[in-house]
Amino acid sequence: MVKVVVCGAAGGIGQPLSLLLKNSDLISHLALYDIVNAAGVAADLSHINTRSTVTGHTGANTLSEALQGAHTVVIPAGVPRKPGMTRDDLFKINAGIVRDLAKACVQYCPKAFILVISNPVNSTVPIVCEVFKKANVFDARRIFGVTTLDVVRSSTFVHQVRPQFEPHSNRITVIGGHSGTTIVPLLSQIESKLSLTAGEIKDLTKRIQFGGDEVVKAKAGAGSATLSMAYAGARFTNSLLEATVRGKTGLVESTYVHLRGNAGAADATIRATGGLEYFAQDVELGPEGVKRVVPLPTLSAEEQKLVKEAVEELKGNITKGIAFVAETQAKL
Ligand code: NAD
Ligand code: LMR
Repeated sequence: MVKVVVCGAAGGIGQPLSLLLKNSDLISHLALYDIVNAAGVAADLSHINTRSTVTGHTGANTLSEALQGAHTVVIPAGVPRKPGMTRDDLFKINAGIVRDLAKACVQYCPKAFILVISNPVNSTVPIVCEVFKKANVFDARRIFGVTTLDVVRSSTFVHQVRPQFEPHSNRITVIGGHSGTTIVPLLSQIESKLSLTAGEIKDLTKRIQFGGDEVVKAKAGAGSATLSMAYAGARFTNSLLEATVRGKTGLVESTYVHLRGNAGAADATIRATGGLEYFAQDVELGPEGVKRVVPLPTLSAEEQKLVKEAVEELKGNITKGIAFVAETQAKL
């Protein structure tokens, strides 16, 4: 039995993400939780002729039944940005939502893999980890910040500049975090093959870093990326299920994880990040989640500068998440 729970399932991301997950033959039970309308979304998806059972759980009093027995919990619950906002501006609402969901996971499915989509990911992942640490059930291999949209955008935008770069099968590593300048795509890995100029690298990097803003602006107050995020979230979930359920080996994805708690976060990363606790990097997935953090490749001089800048901002984001849990500890 493989039960996957989507928390925030009635939302802009939650609905298309649940639709994509209904297609997975590795999921036997898809449980949809939201504070509104989860039952309606579940009834709708349950008519699709794939094998998994779909159940809907609406309202906080249904959270325990939704989470019990979960193999994986995907969390896109919370508010999205409007034009003019940063992801950090979402902290005051989303931090509490994510903390409370993490708290429920500790209680009802402490061994589940937790995939955090809710922004600001740079802070919400430390929040989840802190809640798990305080309950003594923390396993760094099982908690992920989903940064796959940055990877998806990288392939798309590079393809638009070099059509010979096949966007579906070519993956670009994106390290750092998930907001603006903390997003560092390693374009040096493909630079020589595609003869990218310094100017093109600079423009592509900027576009990948601020790709989210393009969507926020185009949606003009109606939210942020939902469909491309659902695609990215389903891709990451499917990779994790392939590794953890089917036992497929050699699967690598970029994701924001508790770096020091995982195997393989070796010297190059420690030097590059100054020992930062959380960082997005390529990880190889295995039966227990993160099998190992893939060593950082040699970075170009420009990328080294970008990482330095990212690390400074990440420090603040991480500290803010950790402090939030410490300050609200009484409620845990
Ligand atoms: P949305 O407002 O459309 O949907 C959010 C859903 O969460 C709603 O259905 C709401 O009812 C639900 N919700 C609120 N509080 C909840 C709670 N306590 N428990 C369960 N559900 C709850 O927003 P969206 O567009 O789906 O975005 C969701 C989040 O994902 C935002 O924080 C957004 O910034 C983030 N996001 C992250 C990435 C990424 O790359 N990681 C990409 C896009 C969006
Ligand atoms: C994105 O990258 O599209 C998301 O993080 C949503 C946002 O706020 O831009």
